[in-house]
Formats: sequence, structure tokens, C-alpha cells
Amino acid sequence: MAVQLVDKFNRVVDYVRISVTDRCDFRCVYCMAEDMVFTPRSELLTLEEIELVAQAFVELGVSKIRLTGGEPLVRHGITNLVEKIASLPGLKELNMTSNGSQLPHLAAPLKAAGLTRLNISLDSLDTDKFKQLTRTGNLQTVLDGIKSAQASGFEEIKINCVMLKGRNDDEILDLVDFIRENQLDISFIEEMPLGEIQEHDRALTFMSSAEIRDVITQKYGLNESGDATGGPSRYWHFSDGHFSKIGFISPHSHNFCDTCNRVRITAQGRLLLCLGNEHSVDLRKVVRDNPGKIEPIKHAIIAAMNLKPERHHFDLAQEVQILRFMNTTGG
Ligand code: 5AD
Ligand code: SF4
Repeated sequence: MAVQLVDKFNRVVDYVRISVTDRCDFRCVYCMAEDMVFTPRSELLTLEEIELVAQAFVELGVSKIRLTGGEPLVRHGITNLVEKIASLPGLKELNMTSNGSQLPHLAAPLKAAGLTRLNISLDSLDTDKFKQLTRTGNLQTVLDGIKSAQASGFEEIKINCVMLKGRNDDEILDLVDFIRENQLDISFIEEMPLGEIQEHDRALTFMSSAEIRDVITQKYGLNESGDATGGPSRYWHFSDGHFSKIGFISPHSHNFCDTCNRVRITAQGRLLLCLGNEHSVDLRKVVRDNPGKIEPIKHAIIAAMNLKPERHHFDLAQEVQILRFMNTTGG
């Protein structure tokens, strides 16, 4: 039988999300503090180390990898890394989550390097509000990035949208119309309590998937799809037959933990067994103690599977329990 990674709860892990940098050219209010201190470069995995870790996972049966950040496209050499990972035998999908700011010039090279699919974050279609939410982002550049990705041949591009009550919830229908008109899919994401932010009170801005759906169904009929994604996302289709898909990511619900198939690697090379828990293994140490060797990494990954907890424990009512910011973990 083919090699598989299996945890204590009999879940097969075949999906890894790798953060290639904690840096970003945006400072989204729900993700970062305005004055972030980023990890010194020496503490980040090098591109060669990331490649070796990815290879170890693929040799252990992982068939799907997502590169995230921070913003993965601000890491120098990223296109090269994509090319290396995309060519690993056994890997079926290499995807990326990006804020879109570098896609006007990088979409075509990424497609050529073998990237399978792109998720692009977009929380507002209003220039001023986009600026307020991202602090440093430019809406038009991201819209150009989306166009450039489509022109380069990327299909099934998914827009990620974090909904904050009183900030961008008045744009729900505009965003839905936008994805319908532009042959895109969209996922609406509930804000997660990752990292302490001063910008707003998360208990006040929290907007549930059910509330977002209520707004959409004022205009469009939606039918829940049975597609299991092995993730916290639930998909719905338009009842008028339009092919765009709408996902809702509800990290506060536990219904997806049972089928969780994923682990994460931080930009510092920590293997996180669960987003909402601190269970982790320092893979960077294993990599640096055994330069260029893949077997020790594979052993460490196999051993780590025993640490994967049954479920996460997010609770908005409590103070921040997870002190990592999203940008060190990847979405
Ligand atoms: N809660 C929910 N989503 C977040 N993201 C970043 N920080 C948070 C948070 N605290 C989103 C980004 C991006 C995806 C990778 O994660 O908007 O779309
Ligand atoms: Fe950057 Fe994404 Fe965080 Fe925004 S959410 S600051 S784009 S990493």
C-alpha cells in the first residue's frame, strides 16, 4: 500500500499548508498589528529547507500543498520554489493563498512554474474601505492581479473575504455580484481570534456565516452542496444555476475537526498539528541538525502525528488564547 500519514484518531493527513514568510506588504486590521516585528531572516526556513520539508511530506503520501504567508509572493525566489515543489512526483495540487498585490507581474510566471490554483484575498470593492482594512493595500492593483491571473490561465480562482460587522458587511451583495460577473468563486471567512490586535473588538465585529448567508439569500437562492472539502469550508450553489461557488468558513464550529486532513508549517519551520492549538514540533531544528538529509525529517513528521489533537478550542468570549498572528501560520 502507498505510504500514508495517519494520526491517533485515524485521520489521514494528505494536505500541508506551508507559510513561506511572515512578511506582508499589507497590514490587514484583523491579521496584523500596525507595527509588526517580523522574524529575522536567519530564523526562517531557507527556500532549500522548505523544498526538502515539502519533499519529505510528499514522500509520506501528501498529495496537496498550499503555500501561504504572510504574503508568499513577497519572498524572493518564490517562483523558483513553486517550480521545484510542483515537480515533486506524487504531488497532485500545489496551490497558493495570496493578497494579489504581486500578481500583475507574477501570475504568468507562477502559472508557468506549475502552480495549480490561487486563492486571492479581497475584503472590499471600495477603494477607501479597502485601504482602511488593509492599511497599505491598493484595490486597483489587486483587481489587476485577479485579471492577470485569469489571463494567465488560472481557473477556479477563489476570493477569500473576511467579514467584519460594521466594516464591510454592507458589501456582501456587491462582492457576490462581483464574483458572478467575473467567473470567480468566493469564501466568506469568520474572523478568528489569532494574535492580539488593538484595532477593533472582535466580539463586536464578529459576523457568523449564517448571518452572511441571510444577506445573500435576500437576493439569490442558495443550495448547500454535499461536497466534503476536508476543511472548515462549506459550499453552496446558486439556485439560478450560476456556476460560481460560495463557501463559508466557520472556524468556530467543530464540525470539521473530525475529518481534518491537514497540518501546517510556519515560516520558522514549526510543524503545527492544529490551527487552534499550540501542539507543534520544531522541524527547523531537525532540518539544521541533519543538513541535506530527508530521512530525519520524515521520522520527525511521522512521530509528530501522535501530537495532533482531536479538535481545536477557539472561544471569542475569552481573551486571545493563541498568541501567534495569522501571518506566521498561514491561512
Ligand atoms: N481571521 C480570519 N481570517 C484571517 N485571515 C488573516 N487573519 C485572519 C483572522 N484573524 C485571512 C486572510 C486571508 C486568509 C489566508 O486568512 O484574509 O484571506
Ligand atoms: Fe497580509 Fe494576508 Fe495578513 Fe492581510 S491577511 S496582512 S494580506 S497576510
